[in-house]
Amino acid sequence: MSGSPLRGKTILFGVCGSIAAFKAAGWVSALRQEGAQVHVVLTAAAARFVTPLTFAALSGNPAHENMFAAGMEHISLPAAADAVLIAPATAQTIARLAQGFADDLLSASVLACSAPVLICPAMNARMLAHPATQRNLAALREYGYRIAEPDCGRLACGEEGAGRLVEWDTAREALLGLLAKQDLAGERVLITAGPTQEPLDPARFLSNRSSGKMGYALARTARRRGAEVTLVSGPVALAPPPDMNVVSVRTALEMAEAVSRHAQTASIVVKAAAVADFRAAAFSAQKIKKTAIEPLLALAANPDILAALGSRRRTDQLLIGFAAESGGHEAEGRRKLLAKNADLIVVNDILGSSTGFEADTNQITLITRDSSETLELLSKEETADRIWDKALSLLQERKAAGAETTA
Ligand code: CTP
Repeated sequence: MSGSPLRGKTILFGVCGSIAAFKAAGWVSALRQEGAQVHVVLTAAAARFVTPLTFAALSGNPAHENMFAAGMEHISLPAAADAVLIAPATAQTIARLAQGFADDLLSASVLACSAPVLICPAMNARMLAHPATQRNLAALREYGYRIAEPDCGRLACGEEGAGRLVEWDTAREALLGLLAKQDLAGERVLITAGPTQEPLDPARFLSNRSSGKMGYALARTARRRGAEVTLVSGPVALAPPPDMNVVSVRTALEMAEAVSRHAQTASIVVKAAAVADFRAAAFSAQKIKKTAIEPLLALAANPDILAALGSRRRTDQLLIGFAAESGGHEAEGRRKLLAKNADLIVVNDILGSSTGFEADTNQITLITRDSSETLELLSKEETADRIWDKALSLLQERKAAGAETTA
């Protein structure tokens, strides 16, 4: 993953003595595959579940256990770290960190560390719910550490409840949030993504090839950069991104309703969804027999959600639309910018194999009232970050213009 934001980052990875320690091995491998440097520190209990050799092999670096080694690792390891990730974090280690103990290499390293810390607890549900553990977690939050709340489900002990180690995807997003600049903090962002489906009958629908990847990349990157995110998503094959409000819709009318409900409080709205322009004029509750289907379908126009937002937009709201084009990109983008009263139109080419609907990369042109800029081919996450950079510069320009008129 050449464009991964984890490339070149140094992660101090603490592993504690829980059965979930075996999952940490997969996380170390995933981090390394994304180009991160990983230095693993195991507690004595962790080394009884998974050997240091496993972590050394997966990380490509020595795995550390011993506090009393010659290299002063409790100082050198945290000094080199961009972030600390502790997974699984046991009740014992959480208590140690809350108290500020420095009696093993992991707790001493965290105490000596000024990089951001992510704690991913894993334990029995009653151990987690105990006031002592909750008080300790509250103390860690107070120190500024980020806690990835454990999932609910079946635990290793056979009981059901909260205490499962979060999935890697959730931890990865939280880690990226710790590493990212928080320049969207305070913004309430509404993003639409994916296609809409317009049913003809219980078996058939009209739709398009949108995968939702671009909209989901925008949602993830906005959250990482500190925004509060609502993602209104059409039907896609992607997992809901963690730590945001995801509203699932199917049709353009459902999307229009969800957008109008959430747009009032949004400071930035991004319409990345490929909304079906038409729906069936009439829906048949029974499957239409093929002998009864007319060769020319009767259609009704769907509302243009972006145009509706543009027509009643607050002056302090930034409105960003997309334009999916197969030709005349710049002219079409500019036409849509003006017709829909948007601040920015992101034009993308739907014919190129590396820029089309299902691709993981994109090449876009950013069109504003007075500028046009074509970016290089980038991953959809890097593209999303560049769209946010542009949105922030537009907000700044607007603030500066506002300050001038009031001066
Ligand atoms: N859009 C919308 N509601 C619609 C159609 C489009 O909100 N009913 C939004 C899309 O989310 C996108 C922008 O309008 O942000 C442009 O969409 P696009 O499909 O490129 O353009 P259309 O307006 O549908 O025009 P055309 O199909 O003629 O290119």
